[in-house]
Amino acid sequence: MKRASILAVGNVKGGVGKTTLAVNLAIWQSLHGKDVLLVDGDEQGTARAFTQLRADILGAPGYTAVSLQGAEIRTQLRMLRTKYQSVIVDVGGRDTASLRAALTVVDMLIVPVLPATFDMWSLKPLDDLIQEAKEINSDLRVLALLNAADAQGRDNAEAAMIIGEKAGLEYFPHPIIRRKAFRNAAAAGLSVLEYRPSDEKAISEFTLFADRVFRYTGDIASISHAHRKESGPKDKEQRQAS
Ligand SMILES: Nc1ncnc2c1ncn2[C@@H]1O[C@H](COP(=O)(O)OP(=O)(O)O)[C@@H](O)[C@H]1O
Ligand SMILES: [Mg+2]
Repeated sequence: MKRASILAVGNVKGGVGKTTLAVNLAIWQSLHGKDVLLVDGDEQGTARAFTQLRADILGAPGYTAVSLQGAEIRTQLRMLRTKYQSVIVDVGGRDTASLRAALTVVDMLIVPVLPATFDMWSLKPLDDLIQEAKEINSDLRVLALLNAADAQGRDNAEAAMIIGEKAGLEYFPHPIIRRKAFRNAAAAGLSVLEYRPSDEKAISEFTLFADRVFRYTGDIASISHAHRKESGPKDKEQRQAS
């Protein structure tokens, strides 16, 4: 049976770029010819609203979007993953019930983090949640990255160090910088890849990130669960990193 990998974008903090990354990842997959499901797990419905705007502007968004919250995220995702080639979940900010439910079924959690003090403090409860989830979902991968970061500055290095200290989080060492193109694109119902005039820096930062994410999830779609346990992408990536 077909079984898409599920990618979630989540954090216990709001305003960190969850929806921005989730919709850009969904469109990336759609542009690469995948049949994509975008799940809006936030009761505020921003990903759905974006998708509606996109449909109004382009005629069709290029992917399917649904809203799911709380425990339904878990039960529905188990079925929906057999019907799509790629599933991306924008997990809400405040509702940890949705985040907990998502963490039990997803293959990878992406954690956008703003390099700011309060956001760093929220990493501890998030890390606890992740450790707990890994007891049920032992294959869960968690990739944290700095989003809306300053182009340069000590903050990024400090934030990277704090993320690196969290046992449940793997740090993706290429921050996505705060760039107007992300906002402008969203307001136009577009991904940063489609928005014109194109912001090449924003595109290349996002591409580096999406490549890494889908190199991983592309792998797991094609290899068996048992194989993944012994010599899965985790080991492979660790070998590449060392
Ligand atoms: N890399 C970025 N550069 C500039 N603005 C960004 C970036 N990422 C997100 N934003 C903006 O920050 C705000 C919050 O992002 P959003 O994706 O809605 O966060 P969340 O879903 O975590 O609440 C939005 O206005 C969005 O356009
Ligand atoms: Mg959001």
